[in-house]
Order: sequence, then C-alpha cells, then structure tokens
Amino acid sequence: VTPKWLLNNPVSLVSTEMNTLAKNIMGLIGSGHPALNRVTSYYFEAEGKKVRPMLVLLLSRALSSIPIEQRNNIKIDFTDFETVPSGKDAIQRILAAKPVDNFSPLQIIHGIQSMNPLTREASPIPEKQFDLERGILPKQRRLAEIVEMIHTASLLHDDVIDHADTRRGRPSGNVAFTNKMAVLAGDFLLGRATVSISRLQNPEVVELMSSSIANLVEGEFMQLHNVATDSGNNDLLTEDTKPAGKLDLRTHDYKVPVIEPSKIIDQLDFSKLTKDQQETIINNAFRYYLHKSYLKTASLISKSCRATTILSGAQPEVIESCYNFGKNLGLSFQLVDDMLDFTVSAKELGKPAGADLKLGISTAPVLYAWMDDPSLGPLIQRHFCEPGDIQQVLKSVKLHKGVEKTKQLAETYRDMALQCLRESLPESDSRSALEFLTNSILTRKK
Ligand code: FPP
Ligand code: MG
Ligand code: MG
Repeated sequence: VTPKWLLNNPVSLVSTEMNTLAKNIMGLIGSGHPALNRVTSYYFEAEGKKVRPMLVLLLSRALSSIPIEQRNNIKIDFTDFETVPSGKDAIQRILAAKPVDNFSPLQIIHGIQSMNPLTREASPIPEKQFDLERGILPKQRRLAEIVEMIHTASLLHDDVIDHADTRRGRPSGNVAFTNKMAVLAGDFLLGRATVSISRLQNPEVVELMSSSIANLVEGEFMQLHNVATDSGNNDLLTEDTKPAGKLDLRTHDYKVPVIEPSKIIDQLDFSKLTKDQQETIINNAFRYYLHKSYLKTASLISKSCRATTILSGAQPEVIESCYNFGKNLGLSFQLVDDMLDFTVSAKELGKPAGADLKLGISTAPVLYAWMDDPSLGPLIQRHFCEPGDIQQVLKSVKLHKGVEKTKQLAETYRDMALQCLRESLPESDSRSALEFLTNSILTRKK
C-alpha cells in the first residue's frame, strides 16, 4: 500500500514498484518457522516512511535518462562478470543466440541481470517486455528491497538497545515478542539481505552494502556511553586538525581513529577549563556527533545511492555526485530526526518522544545550546542522570534556539544534496521527484 503522504505527489512515479516492494521482501524473508516469520515481517506490516527504497527507485529512474553512450554498458559488464564464470557464460549464451547488434546494450544488461542463477539460462529481453519508459533495472529494484531489509533489521536491534516500547504506532518488536526474538529476527533479516546482496553479483556493490552494515554498528557504538576506552589522553582538548585519514576506495570508509568524548569528558572538571578549552571541547563533540550521524544513518543511504549509480553503468563523476547526494541527504535526515525528538509528541511520531535526553544522548539541539551555555557541560557529562537535569537542558535549548539552529544546519545539508542532484543528473520528472523527496525531509513531522 502506498504510504498516505505519498499520494498525489511526484514521488508516486515509482508507486508501482513501491507497491510490489513489500510483497517482494516477503518473498526474500520467508522461512519454515511460522514464529520467526511473524517477528521478521512485523515491522514491514506497519506503515513506515520507506524513504530509502524510494530514493533507490527514483534515483534509478533518474539515472536512466543519462544517454546510454555516456554510460559504461556492455564493456563494464564483461569485466564485472569476468570474475563470475556464470555471468561470462551468460554473456556468451546471449552472444551465441543472436548477433549482438540486434540488441541494445541495456537489453543485454537486462538479459544478464535476469539470468537464472541455478540454470545459468539468460537471454536478452525482447524490447516489448522491457519497459524502457520506467528505466529501473531489476538489480536496482532488488537493491531497494535490500536497503529496506537492512534498515528494518537495524530498527529491531535499535529498539532493544533504546528500550523503546513503540514503533510505527504499534508496540515495538521487543515489546511484542521479547528482546531475544527481536534480536534474532534482526540477525535473520541481515542474513537474508546479505544473500540478496551477493546475488547482485557485483563485487563493488557487495563491498559497499556490507560495509554499510558495519557502519551502522560503528555509529551505534559511538553513541553508547559506557564504552571502555584506553584513551587516557585529553585529545578532546586539542582542535582536531588531523588529516581525514586514509580512504578505502572500495568501501569508501575513512580509517580515522575516533576520539570518544564521553569518556574523556568524564575526566574533566569543567569549572577548571578556560573558555577556549571549553570551546574546543564543544567543537570536537559536534564533530563526533556528525561522524556518528554519518555512520548510523547517512552511510546506508549514501552507499545505496552509490550502488544504484554503479548498477546503472554511470561514469565515475556521476557516481561520486550521487554518493554525495545521499551523504548530505542522510545527514539532513538525521538532524531532522534529532530535532523532531524535541518538537513532536510520541503520538504523532508513533515512537517515544524526548527519547534521546532520557537515554542520556546529546544531539545537535543540546550541543548548540552548550555553545552558548557552558553550564550544560556537567549535565552532558553525567548524561542527564540527576533530577532536574532534563528540565534544565530543555530550558537552555529553548533559550539558545538549539532546535532552530539544528534546522538551519539540516537545511544546509539539504541544499548541498540538491546541488549534487542538479550537477549529476539530467532534468527529468524523476529528478524533480528526488528534489521533492529531499525537501520533504525537512517538512516531515515523523
Ligand atoms: C535509529 O536511531 C537507529 C539507527 C539509525 C541504526 C541502528 C543500528 C544498530 C542498532 C546497529 C546494529 C544493527 C544492525 C542490524 C546492523 P534512533 O534510535 O536515533 O532513532 P529512533 O527514534 O527511530 O529509534
Ligand atoms: Mg531508537
Ligand atoms: Mg537508537
């Protein structure tokens, strides 16, 4: 069922695919265990925003208007498949069946993509069966399903970690089924998602999507405040001028040693710090917060945009821009999420509100307030565990416009995301729909 907020808006361009998404996912997650099936399908039954698959589908469609001559077509697929004998075999079968000139590169790619992995049968899809109009490749459609499966797995785990009692307006998985079942169901979804990832038979995409699963855990770990750290130094007192670290060109992860502010802050006495030292600490805490937000939210979005673009055969510059689109959009998305935690009721959100402060987590609105109100330092340090802490921080956030400043930062990332779209994709109805989706991230209420 198309989510209500999508009816009559540009995003409905992919409503056909969105309507089959849930059905296809059910096909990927079925098991012989009725009890397991109940838990794994639970979050898919309720109405989620489905932003991630929608992005993949709209981006696929928008990429299809890049002229085929400007894309790596058969050639790239030959090289890709050279590592997979079955794929090469498939291409040979296609070439043997008909002179290749009779088929468009896109048809051949489709033929390979539609290859039956068991029988190794593949053939170019006749033009009439191949909806050039829609432009979404089968692998891209599968990627949309995979990204929603990974996201849902992470929500099952997240609600256990956060002790959440509701999600999508219903009891959360942990409440409806127990922690153990929720964790196992998340693991199962991840397992099935990885099977589907490997069946895409594109090593680059496999590395991207697998590393995004690892990134979710890294982000979540950065948010724990009982993390043991061997870092007894006070790195947090020096402005972070280190180079960004080494970029892994396959996973797109930076190898940077992460400073863990919570433990280091624990060792500090704020009253004894100079104003400059306090400022440095706050700036570093903000940087830590943004890196965490990238890992727990933006990475899955940006890497799935990158994978979508790779699957379209686009040129490296386009791949880079679409990746940066996802990164900026993801950061904007998480900033808005952290803002809504302050501004919207639990009823409207369909999940607990004010949850971050209760969990002792400082997000952008608090960090902005801290910049103007150093007295928040000790409260942040003790994770708001003393009576009256939460009220004091809420008052300070209001006084120092923490929510408004967070919104402005989200707008900055949104604008960068829009810029990436415009520089990498030709004008089309799908690109407009992507712009609409990017803008609606800021106007959303849940
Ligand atoms: C929601 O954040 C949660 C995430 C964005 C990611 C959660 C990731 C994990 C628990 C890592 C391990 C899991 C897997 C399956 C890789 P939130 O708690 O800020 O938002 P909420 O308000 O929606 O709960
Ligand atoms: Mg949560
Ligand atoms: Mg969480």
